[in-house]
Amino acid sequence: MKTLKFEPINETLQVATQSDLLEALLAKDLEVLTACGGKGLCSTCHVFIKQGADKLTPPTDREQRTLGMITGANPRSRLACQARVLGEGVVVQLPEGMYIEKVEDLMRYLGQRAQTSILHPINGSVLIEKGKIITRSRLEELKHLNCEVQALRAAT
Ligand code: FES
Repeated sequence: MKTLKFEPINETLQVATQSDLLEALLAKDLEVLTACGGKGLCSTCHVFIKQGADKLTPPTDREQRTLGMITGANPRSRLACQARVLGEGVVVQLPEGMYIEKVEDLMRYLGQRAQTSILHPINGSVLIEKGKIITRSRLEELKHLNCEVQALRAAT
């Protein structure tokens, strides 16, 4: 077993060696989406490794390609579904913002200001900035997202 630490929520979790970070995030009820089904092809499980990157399996070519397309990724970025835990001392930092898988996920926030930035499920770009009002017209503009996610799933 290995201990993971999550920031900024300041929580820890014991995980089996070789388990992936996605399992740990889901075990913590962190509402992580898995738009591509854990295939390393989207941004919804993007995290930053604050410490202990060398205690994870190295990124595959596929993961590196996907990270290269994600807005906001940096050298500390990993895809939680691809990174397996090998040793102690891993500190995972959750990115700011909320990913969506389909536009309908935002309907309950219609007319409200976004509490956090709303992020594109594949490339991580900001769809609605934090503090902006979520309008019906903006949701109409974003309807293409549903097709993009469906196409991604069909391709995997
Ligand atoms: S769930 Fe899509 S890359 Fe991890």
